[in-house]
Amino acid sequence: MPKLIVANYKMNGSKKLYATIIKKINKLKVMDTKIVLCPPFVYLDEFRLKNRFVSLGCQDITNEDNSKSTGQISPKMLLEFQVEYVIVGHSERRKLGEKDEQINEKVKICLNNGLQPIICVGEEKKSDKLDSVLFQVEQAIKNTPKNIIPIIAYEPVWAIGTGKLPEVSRINRMSKKIRTKITDLGYQNCILLYGGSINSNNFKEIMLSQIDGLLLGGVSLRIDEFIKIVKGIDDD
Ligand code: 13P
Repeated sequence: MPKLIVANYKMNGSKKLYATIIKKINKLKVMDTKIVLCPPFVYLDEFRLKNRFVSLGCQDITNEDNSKSTGQISPKMLLEFQVEYVIVGHSERRKLGEKDEQINEKVKICLNNGLQPIICVGEEKKSDKLDSVLFQVEQAIKNTPKNIIPIIAYEPVWAIGTGKLPEVSRINRMSKKIRTKITDLGYQNCILLYGGSINSNNFKEIMLSQIDGLLLGGVSLRIDEFIKIVKGIDDD
């Protein structure tokens, strides 16, 4: 299975920066890596991607099946811009009050409309029990068809944007727990990503753990460093 690398640009960037990023991404040659770029909604139309290894994603979606939702973005709108993936339940949205129930609604809205949710889970503090993460996984995919292969991004909140990394052994323990949970719930498999403080100096070490790819934040904006990571993974 090709490795999956997702760029979450968060609330960053500009038309100028994305023009540079897209130019370089369209020229990027990889063999066995899938890349997903998730810009803020207002820049989706700038992302005219001409690289079969690269797909478009976004950072959120509505949880409501109702056009009377000021400020929300519907799946139909996203599909018009060739969006294929949606980050759902990022800890930065959970912090704003998003609950497991809404995350589950968003996951179902994605799946009902042919969009692939990238479900973010992770413990708040390093001292927290890893099992709390399994509850987030279970709630997010509740009542979804068992024939899907969920994409789960393990992002320990304490590792996001802090420069702190979990040990490979911790990621492996989490990976095993999540994969076991997924099969216990009746799904065949999942695609498991890691996210939090990855850069071009530490990605190799993290890729030694039992994960299928990365969800990158800050480093995605530094396009040359981002490409270095992609190539480093693709070459392995
Ligand atoms: P950083 O890579 O900036 O720590 O962010 C990770 C993240 O939140 C990706 O969704």
